[in-house]
Amino acid sequence: MDFNQSTEDNLFDRARVIGKPHTRIDGILKVTGRAPYAYERHDVAANQLVGYPLCATIAKGRIMHMDASAARAAPGVAAVVTTLEHEPLDRAESNIAHLFGGATIEHYHQAIAVVVAETLEQARGAAALIEVRYEKEKGVFDLEAAWERLQDVGEPQADVGDVDAAFRDAPVTLDEVYRTASQSHAMMEPHASIVDWSDGGQMTVWTSNQMVEWTRQALATTFNIDADTIRLESPFVGGGFGGKLWLRADAVLAALGSRAAGQPVKLALPRPLMFNNTVHRSGTIQRLRIAADAEGRITAFEHSAISHTLPGGSGENPVDQTRHFYAGKSRRVAHQAIDMDLPESADMRAPGEASGLAVLEVAMDEMAEKLGMDPVEFRILNDTQVDPEDPSKPFSDRHYVECLRKGAEAFGWADRNRTPGGKREGQWLIGHGMAGAYRGAPTMTSGARVRLQGERLVVETDMTDIGTGSYTIIAQTAAETMGLDINAVEVRLGNSAYPTSSGSGGQFGAASSTAGVYAACVALQSEIAKRLGIESPRFENGRVVSGDTDLALGDVADGEELVAEDSISFGDFKDKMQIATFAAHFVEVAVHAHTGETRLRRMLSVCDAGRILNPVTARSQVLGGMVMGTGAALMEGMSVDLERGFFVNHDLAAYEVAVHADIPEQEIIFLDTADAASTPLKAKGVGELGICGVAAAIANAIYNASGVRLRDYPMTLDRMI
Ligand code: MOS
Repeated sequence: MDFNQSTEDNLFDRARVIGKPHTRIDGILKVTGRAPYAYERHDVAANQLVGYPLCATIAKGRIMHMDASAARAAPGVAAVVTTLEHEPLDRAESNIAHLFGGATIEHYHQAIAVVVAETLEQARGAAALIEVRYEKEKGVFDLEAAWERLQDVGEPQADVGDVDAAFRDAPVTLDEVYRTASQSHAMMEPHASIVDWSDGGQMTVWTSNQMVEWTRQALATTFNIDADTIRLESPFVGGGFGGKLWLRADAVLAALGSRAAGQPVKLALPRPLMFNNTVHRSGTIQRLRIAADAEGRITAFEHSAISHTLPGGSGENPVDQTRHFYAGKSRRVAHQAIDMDLPESADMRAPGEASGLAVLEVAMDEMAEKLGMDPVEFRILNDTQVDPEDPSKPFSDRHYVECLRKGAEAFGWADRNRTPGGKREGQWLIGHGMAGAYRGAPTMTSGARVRLQGERLVVETDMTDIGTGSYTIIAQTAAETMGLDINAVEVRLGNSAYPTSSGSGGQFGAASSTAGVYAACVALQSEIAKRLGIESPRFENGRVVSGDTDLALGDVADGEELVAEDSISFGDFKDKMQIATFAAHFVEVAVHAHTGETRLRRMLSVCDAGRILNPVTARSQVLGGMVMGTGAALMEGMSVDLERGFFVNHDLAAYEVAVHADIPEQEIIFLDTADAASTPLKAKGVGELGICGVAAAIANAIYNASGVRLRDYPMTLDRMI
């Protein structure tokens, strides 16, 4: 099905199931421990062995010598594969670092061997017996030094109007430098795979991955084999946040170990290796300039930033949203990814916007203060319904102002503290802050197959559920379209035997995959109509109705299975507009007057993200985003050892994420909107919107509480004093 923008009312505007609160249909499996996560697939691949990785302890250089003889002789060891015995594996398009093979070390904790044994303890013990001698090279690890050396950030990605004239003429301007930290996805379930490649022929992979087809193709490229010989399952994923968009070392090492041992091998990356072996969000240094007239109308933005990447990567680009979010005639934005020898940086939840809005929305707060304006009113004044960079492009559906107004009212913004440092309760300084959020709403081609089996409908698509609720919204979509009860629908996900979906990423998963399931259901409807020789049938209450025909769906096929498959694709009409999601965040904090400790007291988020497919699962997405944004604001940051070139705090003891005790009452309001330009369901994603702007709202509240303006994240208490 080709989707072209429709403004007509449709099925989903009169929905029975879509848009209604529904708890997760996979919830019982999860809370009873019966959801089969990759490392726990005891039901597949008999005689599994356990793999353990050995990772490099230098950041850059060569391995001169490896001796694995003691490891091979250790108890229970079935195989050892070292990087020196292997040509460098090909790099899949999505991987910047080589995942295995050869003597060259590109980053700290690069995998250099895998040991396969009967038990985890045996494999780990044997891995410690491998001797490695390196020849180190000097690496480049210091982003701050790169910033100081930099003359300019280079070719701008956008340069409209006359930025220099605007800054020359403006009565009110801001020019500040901000820093965001390198962050780890730190998902609950580590990267883990079981691979059966025992005979080096057919490869079967049970893994934890957001993108089934990308990863199948990446495995084919990496091992230089035919993708048709690979089958991959990823039905449950214990969090990804972008870290599981790609093939990582767990699956590669398990595959090599399986082939060497002639048995299936399971391997999970140990948590202390994940931070440097896999990927992360790169830290950024950003300079932001804003110019406004005396009434507070923005006349120009200049946003310049750097982040770091292994050579060939793109780093964290935090300037993009500054091109589109607010009005203003002139703007110049530029981002440069600096080549460094740190581990591979890649996408993490709202890649770019999370770091960009953490800065832009603090700068907006600073500008409002310079102008003597209420920060909410300053944003409302600078709202736009067209892309400011290309005014011929309207926003398809933008209700940012409504987010701001509704949020201000629900939060009690009028009663906020108005003087920084001016409100005290005992030893605590109380402050209020707000920020806006903007995140694009892309869609991707997405396919599905539906099987009508009597009165039951089975949906099959390689879409993943990374904790987001895909199972549930897909069941709702199929139930709605086919006029069935949700309990009559069974959803099967995360298997390369099923049609290729969008996968879960970039906030495109929910909107795209449900649209694909809708397309498959429409194909099934046509199939049924053809079979019955009827026109324009209606599907309701488990029946198909048309003219004189009124038949239970279970009686349509005389006990046969009816199968239909289709995929949704999106026309290029989308290039003629900006399709995005919006939010406003409001926060109350208490900052300790003597220690600088910050405690969150209240958080509110108002979101405009098209039709909300399921308010329960969508709310959980935004809640999670707000928690992650809190981490980014207050505690999450990987520290680089500038001598040895690695992230020092590479476990969850030293890399702190927000926990229950850090999170106060959270409230979320969804605006009741529907974006006809997005998908047939008029839905957009929320999973990445939820993190955007949160850190800035907290930073602004800290300033309001304490009078201390922090421009470097995370805002730990040592920076407060
Ligand atoms: Mo997302 S960072 O594309 O999982």
